[in-house]
Amino acid sequence: MSPLLLGLDAGGGSARALLLDTERGPLAVARRDDAWTAPERREWVVRSTAQEMAENTVDAAHFRFVHKTNTVPETEKASIRDHILHVVANNRVATPRGEQRGRIEIQAHGFGLGITRVSGIAGLLVVTSGSPVDDDHNHTRLQFAVKKLANSDTTRGVGKAFIAEIERQFAQDIPIWENKIHLERPLLVEGEREIVLFRRWAKQFYS
Ligand SMILES: [Fe+2]
Repeated sequence: MSPLLLGLDAGGGSARALLLDTERGPLAVARRDDAWTAPERREWVVRSTAQEMAENTVDAAHFRFVHKTNTVPETEKASIRDHILHVVANNRVATPRGEQRGRIEIQAHGFGLGITRVSGIAGLLVVTSGSPVDDDHNHTRLQFAVKKLANSDTTRGVGKAFIAEIERQFAQDIPIWENKIHLERPLLVEGEREIVLFRRWAKQFYS
């Protein structure tokens, strides 16, 4: 069965529905391809909104200064197609074998569904789905899958480290999400163009 995304306007006027192609689409990768591990799920309820939480993914600088990653990811491309926001970024990761390049590709289908693919040192997939609980709280579910390596112990180790890293970053983001104030016109700098694009994309989901 394919997931259905619905967009309703507050006045009850128009409704938009989208059926996702899970037979060929990225969700199918985690579900039915033997090359990937079975998805593992984590979930949180945060006192924030879907837009504030999603904006985190295009805030490049916070990876370095909040999550203490080695570098600020560099955006290769960012675009909007209808309800889909597509961002490709590159980063450098310190490993026991020296610095390696990694690639992160994010596809956000509205606020409700996000697909993140990481490639480079390892192939990783995160499917994010979220739904509002009430006006002030949002329920986020993350599903993780790892592209299997030749050795199953190594695959397990990579998966464990990957999930632990995302959990660590998520925990660091929670106090920011729960305390940040939404500014209609934030003061942005040159390296924050993706936030402008994100805000333009987000506008279509409000009436
Ligand atoms: Fe973050």
